Amino acid sequence: MKTAAQHWDEWQQQRAPGRFTDWGDHPFAFAQICENAFGDGGCDFIEYIRRCLPDLAQAHVLSLCCGDGAFEHALLQKGVFGRVTGFDVSAERVNAGNAVFAGQHEGAGAPNIHLECKDVNTAQYGTAQYDIVFAKSALHHIENLEHAFAQIARCLKPGGKLVTIDFFGPTRFQWTQEQLKVRSWFWRNRVPEELRQDRDGHEIPEIERPDVQAMVAMDPSEAVRSGDLYALLKQYFAPSQDIALGGSLVNLLLYGAIVNNFDPAIETHNAVIREAFSLERLLMDLGVLGSDFRLIIAEPLARPAPPPGLRKRLAKLWSAGAE
Ligand SMILES: C[S@@+](CC[C@H](N)C(=O)[O-])C[C@H]1O[C@@H](n2cnc3c(N)ncnc32)[C@H](O)[C@@H]1O
Repeated sequence: MKTAAQHWDEWQQQRAPGRFTDWGDHPFAFAQICENAFGDGGCDFIEYIRRCLPDLAQAHVLSLCCGDGAFEHALLQKGVFGRVTGFDVSAERVNAGNAVFAGQHEGAGAPNIHLECKDVNTAQYGTAQYDIVFAKSALHHIENLEHAFAQIARCLKPGGKLVTIDFFGPTRFQWTQEQLKVRSWFWRNRVPEELRQDRDGHEIPEIERPDVQAMVAMDPSEAVRSGDLYALLKQYFAPSQDIALGGSLVNLLLYGAIVNNFDPAIETHNAVIREAFSLERLLMDLGVLGSDFRLIIAEPLARPAPPPGLRKRLAKLWSAGAE
C-alpha cells in the first residue's frame, strides 16, 4: 500500500498539462459553479474571498495541504493576502512550488510564500500567529480532523478565520443511492451517445461506488473522513459564510477522465452540463441531494462543542455509579 505522500509525489511527477482532472477544471462547469454560488459569472473564488475579507492584504496565511501552492500564489499576486506558509505531505509538490516561487522572485528578496513538507494529521501549526487558515481541496484528505481543527483554532490570531473550499461528500466516495440513481438516469437519457464513449469508441460504464480497499491502496488520504467533515467542522467553528457549491450530480457526471469528453468550445456539450446543474440545484432544493462541495468562512468557537454521544456516555456513567 502506498502512503499519501508517495501517491502525491507520483501525481506531481505525472501531471499532464492541458488535461482536466475533475469537474472544477472544466471552464464552463467552473463558470456555472461560480454563477450559482455567487450569483455573478464575473465573480470567482478569489474575488469572493476578497469581497468577504477585504482588509487582509498584509495578512499571514497558513495553507493546509497546499500542493504546489499555485492557488495561494494567485491569491498573493491579486493582493488578497500578504504572506503564505503552506504545509503539504508531498515533498515533490512542496519542492516544485518553492522552486517556481524562488525563480519568480530572483533578485527581489525572499518570496512571500514558502511551502513546508508537513503532515497535517500530526504537525503543530503554531500559536496565535496566522490571520487566516486556508484549506482548498484539503480537509477531505485529513483523517485526524480533531487534531487539525484544534490546531487551526490554536494557530489563529484572535479574530482569525478558517477559509475552506472542500469536498464534504460521502467518505471514500461511497455515493448515496439517490446520487447513483439520478446520475444513471441523466447519463442514459440526457447525455448524447458520443459523449458516453471513451477515446476508442467503447461505451463508458456507469458510475459505481469505488472499492474502498482499492481506493485506500491507491491513496489512503482520499476522502478518508469527508462524510464527517461538515458536522465536525461546526463543532469547532461558527461559519459566517457557508455556500453550497453542489457537485452531488455534476461531479459524478464528469467523474474521472469523462470530464475531458466535454469540449468547452462546443455549445451542445456545455448545454448538457448546464442541464445537469439545473437538475442538481432542483434536487438539492427538494432535499433529495446534498451539496458535496462547500465554501465556508468560519471563526473558531470559544469552546468547541462536545463530541456527539458524550452527554449520553456521561449519563450512562452516572447511572452506573448510582447503582
Ligand atoms: C487534491 S490536492 C489539493 C492541493 C491544493 N490545495 C489544490 O487545491 O490544488 C490534496 C493535497 O493534499 C495533500 N495531502 C494529503 N494528505 C496530507 C496530509 N496528511 N498532510 C498534508 N498534506 C496532505 C496531498 O499531497 C495533495 O497535495
